[in-house]
Amino acid sequence: MAEPTDTATLSLKGKSYDLPVFSPTLGPDVVDIRKLYDQADVFTFDPGFTSTAACESAITFIDGDKGELLHRGYPIEQLANKSTYIEMCYLLLYGELPNAGQLSDFQQRVTHHTMVHEQLHNFFRGFRRDAHPMATMVGVVGAMSAFYHDSLDINDEWQREVAAIRMIAKLPTIAAMAYKYSVGQPFVYPQNSLSYSGNFLNMCFAVPAEDYQVNPILAKAMDRIMMLHADHEQNASTSTVRLAGSSGANPFACIAAGIACLWGPAHGGANQACLEMLRAIGTVDRIPEYIAKAKDKTSGFRLMGFGHRVYKNFDPRATVMKESADEVLDLLGIHNNPTLQVAKELERIALSDDYFISKKLYPNVDFYSGIILDAMGFPTSMFTPIFAISRTVGWIAQWKEMIAEKNQKIGRPRQLYVGEKHRDYIDVNHR
Ligand code: CMC
Repeated sequence: MAEPTDTATLSLKGKSYDLPVFSPTLGPDVVDIRKLYDQADVFTFDPGFTSTAACESAITFIDGDKGELLHRGYPIEQLANKSTYIEMCYLLLYGELPNAGQLSDFQQRVTHHTMVHEQLHNFFRGFRRDAHPMATMVGVVGAMSAFYHDSLDINDEWQREVAAIRMIAKLPTIAAMAYKYSVGQPFVYPQNSLSYSGNFLNMCFAVPAEDYQVNPILAKAMDRIMMLHADHEQNASTSTVRLAGSSGANPFACIAAGIACLWGPAHGGANQACLEMLRAIGTVDRIPEYIAKAKDKTSGFRLMGFGHRVYKNFDPRATVMKESADEVLDLLGIHNNPTLQVAKELERIALSDDYFISKKLYPNVDFYSGIILDAMGFPTSMFTPIFAISRTVGWIAQWKEMIAEKNQKIGRPRQLYVGEKHRDYIDVNHR
């Protein structure tokens, strides 16, 4: 850790405490409160971590006010337009863009790990056909630790590396299998001749009865969706992976924990919830009713695909995703789709409405991704699994960064206790 650049002073009950202040490469200064409990016998209170940096990280930076997202310093817009998902995986994992040799070697390593252990197929058959693919994925990814014993030792750098490659390579296979199982079609094995995203589309949409040609424009759009979801610094699922990993849990268990967290509708589940909301609205004339509901605190309803904890200007991923949505819909000749009309009008109304302007609520990445995935032929239940595939590299990069840290500690938050004070047990006959 760098040296402190300043000192903050906290006054409490007539005493003052000096707290070191660190300056990051980018972003606000950070007040170091690690010794505060020892020195002053107080905790800090920050449920939801709105003002708390829980770790040091060199992977991703977000400036929410500017609407800026950088991976290892590179702006997401440049990566999404010029790079590929597999190259981004390399960047996130190893910190630099690969040269041609490094890229082809990495691609080769990932490609040759895409098959899953044949016995893992039996796991899928144990699930109900109508299970949500995210439920299947949490189970199967957790079960990977029962299959890949030679990459469970977190203290062995080589094993950590193999576990990372295995998960990046196998998550698309597992997600596609979850999909195939849910529609009652045979599993399609990975094809090493295809690109990462093309292979995923093939595993989802090919059937043994006829040839399936991966459309390169759709494969590119899928690759872009993956790039836009690859990492997002210390979001809920990434923090879950870090917390799970901080106890020394094996990498497959940690990623399964991340998938479970991602499923929630406030996080990765929002893409499914958003498209379902657009379909429930159905026609443009019903939008005002839904806008009114979103403003009414007692309704418990939120416009899905709007708002973000960190972005308070715009979500740069949403801007790129919107362009991609236009390209894909054009390619597929979809212009008058009612869901799309509702989405466009909802976006227009919400962006000119005082409630949304004053609360800085903008369409987020999930507002547009569902429209593309729907047009590609995915059911809404596959939207969050696709997010999970994409985010796997971010989770692993962050997990690897944490494990490699010297003096890494188990995550153990404290609390503001509001329960009963000490009281004595009363025998059941006297209560
Ligand atoms: N619709 C209507 N009102 C909203 C919305 C929304 N989508 N989002 C926030 N608000 C209001 C909220 O009621 C609150 O109002 P007030 O200040 O009067 O109490 C204010 O805006 C701030 O909301 P918050 O819940 O304190 O903000 P947060 O930072 O805790 O939550 C969020 C961020 C993304 C969970 C939230 O905006 C939300 O629930 N959005 C809908 C779900 C969604 O699209 N999630 C995907 C996020 S992007 C992908 C990802 O990260 O996984």
